Amino acid sequence: MLEKLIKFAEYFPYCVTIVDVKQTGRPCLYANKKFFENTGYHPQEAIGRNLAFLQGEATQEESRNFMRKAFRDGAACIQDLINYKKDGTPFLNRLLMVPLEQANRGTHIYIGIQNDVTESRGFEHDNTLLSKVTDGEIKHHINNALTIIFFTLESNLRKAKSPEEIQHSILLLTQTFSRINEFILNAENISELDNFDPSSPMKN
Ligand SMILES: Cc1cc2nc3c(=O)[nH]c(=O)nc-3n(C[C@H](O)[C@H](O)[C@H](O)COP(=O)(O)O)c2cc1C
Repeated sequence: MLEKLIKFAEYFPYCVTIVDVKQTGRPCLYANKKFFENTGYHPQEAIGRNLAFLQGEATQEESRNFMRKAFRDGAACIQDLINYKKDGTPFLNRLLMVPLEQANRGTHIYIGIQNDVTESRGFEHDNTLLSKVTDGEIKHHINNALTIIFFTLESNLRKAKSPEEIQHSILLLTQTFSRINEFILNAENISELDNFDPSSPMKN
């Protein structure tokens, strides 16, 4: 499954990385073409290295520790991090990291989806709300989408005979990714909703 994911991740419209979090140094096993567009690093420059090489002076230690705890627990997590492109330009990276349980039960492979959100958010960031988004909430919101992605890879693409059928499967993957992305970009609203008292506007 991992091989298939890697084969088709090239077509994904978002920046996707795959990391084994239990291997010493947490090396990146795979980065797709979009990684190059986002960071200026060729995937070959990232593979075998810990993606922390994208971090720098302004990256918060707190976020690093938060991610480490998630990896120890085998949990999904989402954080905003300052990262740096190859030419030194900083960007705000909204990063979703999810363990690939469907594919590899008992292993420690994570898929990462990177979003450069600098344009909409600038560099000011506060992970208080994102840190509250639980593993269960992330999985609840994206597991269906991941299942569609895996099903499409496993079944549709294997059976696809014509270029049109392949195109159709890739379109489905693209649409599914858009849904994941919508969730990523609005993730902090999820923890806000927990605190929202629907009766409060009526009280005034
Ligand atoms: C799938 C995946 C993708 C990641 N992508 C990034 C990334 O784009 N930028 C970044 O700064 N850290 C990224 N990280 C986190 C770092 O690689 C690193 O694990 C984190 O800073 C914790 O530090 P440590 O591995 O040295 O304990 C990613 C981790 C995983 C599992």
